Parts: sequence; C-alpha cells; structure tokens
Amino acid sequence: MNILLTGGAGFIGRHVLAELIARRHSIRVLDSLRADVHHGRRWSPPEPVELVVGDVRDAATCDAVLDGIDAVIHLAAKVGLGVDVSDTPDYVSSNDYGTAELLAAMARAKVGRLTLASSMVVYGEGIGLCAVHGAVTPGPRLDHAMAAGRFEPPCPVCGETLAPAMVPESVATDPRNVYATTKLAQELLSSNWARVTGGSVAAMRYHNVYGPGMPRDTPYAGVAAIFLSSLRKGLAPQVFEDGGQRRDFIHVRDIAAATVLATERHASGVRAFNVGSGTPRTVGDMAVALAAALDGPSPIVTGKYRLADVRHIVADSQRLRDELGWSATTEFASGMKELAGSFDH
Ligand code: UD1
Repeated sequence: MNILLTGGAGFIGRHVLAELIARRHSIRVLDSLRADVHHGRRWSPPEPVELVVGDVRDAATCDAVLDGIDAVIHLAAKVGLGVDVSDTPDYVSSNDYGTAELLAAMARAKVGRLTLASSMVVYGEGIGLCAVHGAVTPGPRLDHAMAAGRFEPPCPVCGETLAPAMVPESVATDPRNVYATTKLAQELLSSNWARVTGGSVAAMRYHNVYGPGMPRDTPYAGVAAIFLSSLRKGLAPQVFEDGGQRRDFIHVRDIAAATVLATERHASGVRAFNVGSGTPRTVGDMAVALAAALDGPSPIVTGKYRLADVRHIVADSQRLRDELGWSATTEFASGMKELAGSFDH
C-alpha cells in the first residue's frame, strides 16, 4: 500500500516505519520535527522513504502529502501528561486541530483508511471490581485522600477497596486529563469523518510504550525513561504514590506490529483496539526490574503524587488478537534489559 505516516520521526513512528519497510509498503513520512521533541536535530528516513517536513495543522501541506496515498497512519501528536494547565492550548492545537485538518484533507483527496494512535488514557480509571457492587467506575481521586496516603480509588457506591479488572473496549470513556481528552477527541472526530465519508478507522489505544529510542529528559517522558535517566546518573528511581499503580508496559516493536496489521487488515467501519501485553505490572515492580538490569540503586517509594494520574489502568487486548491476529512477542524482563542497554539510542 501507499501509506502516509504522520509523526514518523518520533519514538513510535520510527518503529512503525521500520515495520512498514519490512512489510514492503511504499511510505511517505510527514513530520514537523517539532523543537520540543527533536531539539533541532535533523533526521532522515532510510531510502526510499520520502520525508516531508511540515505540520499536519497546515491544510496545504496535508493536501500535498496525500497525493497517491491509500491509507494514513496518524501518530503526529503532543504526548505525555504535560507540565501544567498552560499546556492545554498546545495539546488541543497539536492533537485535535491537527487531526481536523488531516481528516478534511483526506476527504478532499478521497483517502478512506485511517489508523489513529489513541491511548488507554481515554478510559480514565477504567473499571474496578467491588465485592458488593460488581464492576464499577472508580470515582476521581481526591487531593486530601492522596495527601493522606490513600491512593486507591474507592467504590463510588460503598467506598470499599476495588479489585483489579482488565478494561475491554466497550467500557465507557472517561478522560481525566488534557492529553486524554485530546486523544478521545481525535477518536470522535475520526469517527464523525468516517460516518460522513464512508472511511474506516482503527483507533489503537496504546498502553504504556517502552523501548529503544524512548524520549527522555523532558517533562513529557514516560516513567520507564525517567527511571532510566535517574539510574544512568547513579540515582535511585523515585516511585510515586506507594508504587502499587498498575500499568501494562508494552514493547514498541509490538506496538508497531499492531499498528501496521491494523492498517493492512481493518478496512471498514470504526473500531477501537486496546494494545497491551496482557500482563499488568506495578510501577514499583518496573522500577525494581530496571534497577536490577542496570545494577543500580534500589528504587525509593516517595509517596508523592500527581493529581492527573490514574491509579490503575490495564488493557484487555483480546479484540486485537481475535480480529487482527496480533499478539505481543517481547517479554517484560528481556524488553527491560534491552531498553537498559540501548538507552543512548
Ligand atoms: C502513559 C503515557 C501516555 C499514554 C499512556 C497509555 C507518557 C508520559 N505517558 O501515561 O502518553 O497515552 O501511558 O496508557 O509517556 N511515575 C513515577 N515516578 C516518576 C514518573 C511517573 O512513579 O518519576 C508514575 C506515575 O505516578 C504513574 C506511572 O508512573 O502512576 C506512569 O506514569 P507515566 O509514564 O507518566 O504514564 P501514564 O500516565 O500511565
């Protein structure tokens, strides 16, 4: 296929590009090489991939790059939790206005297939299991409770502690920070576009992605990269809350394989796909694994917290396995070892 890959110079984008090349697609990359990510560094894709340096928010740029394209993989976005509320306009502009321009241009160019980088953050706290009330949506975590060290969100009905549950795509979305809101808006805008144009959308709800080339030393870095930066300086990883937050850390090569499979195989309708390894870990366990891989100091559990963080979020990726024939292949311990060894990428 002739594929337009937006954000192809980014962390996930480079791995998706490698997978597309391996599967012999013809690829054009659109990337603005934004300064807060690339810091003025140049980047060239391998031959014969075409690179257009430009912004997805620019209608004329979108029109130009869509010429001859069969499908779009839209990864270009501002990621992470952000610094504070002053980041909001840039998130909305980069993620939602950018998607709006891209979709309008796809309609003009009659390009009907879209694979979108979404996120597990659209579920907010997801679901928890109450012994009395069954599957419930945990309420928001309150500042005073977290300050007192009560990090678990309680059952919204009786206040009891909830047991973990895997989140399927059918769970109601509940974005709890600006980034999450912009990711959900991207999905909704794409869905509206699909209904009007007859296009197809695969919304890939990625879990916590790690692997070679992770962004680091920025306020937008993921926790694995932050821990590695500390360990590289001989410092102990600082684990927030009590370290019991559950996530699903998934290797970027598995993410890339899922993204390309969805582009090849999902050709009609709008479908969300969770993309996780299926094996939940706590942030504390991840810190221990990385510290061990680097023979560094033991993690410190700080009790600090960020109000916008969700406590637990763990995907059920059965749909992706059933419908697209995907499965994760990189095991956590070996993936963490590889990350530790390749961090100067
Ligand atoms: C991450 C991604 C987000 C993606 C989502 C998918 C980043 C920055 N965020 O969000 O883009 O959509 O996964 O599920 O890549 N923590 C510490 N110590 C630190 C920093 C963080 O303990 O120094 C903890 C946080 O409190 C949180 C957990 O690590 O509980 C994960 O934080 P983070 O990596 O920022 O990711 P998510 O919010 O899960």
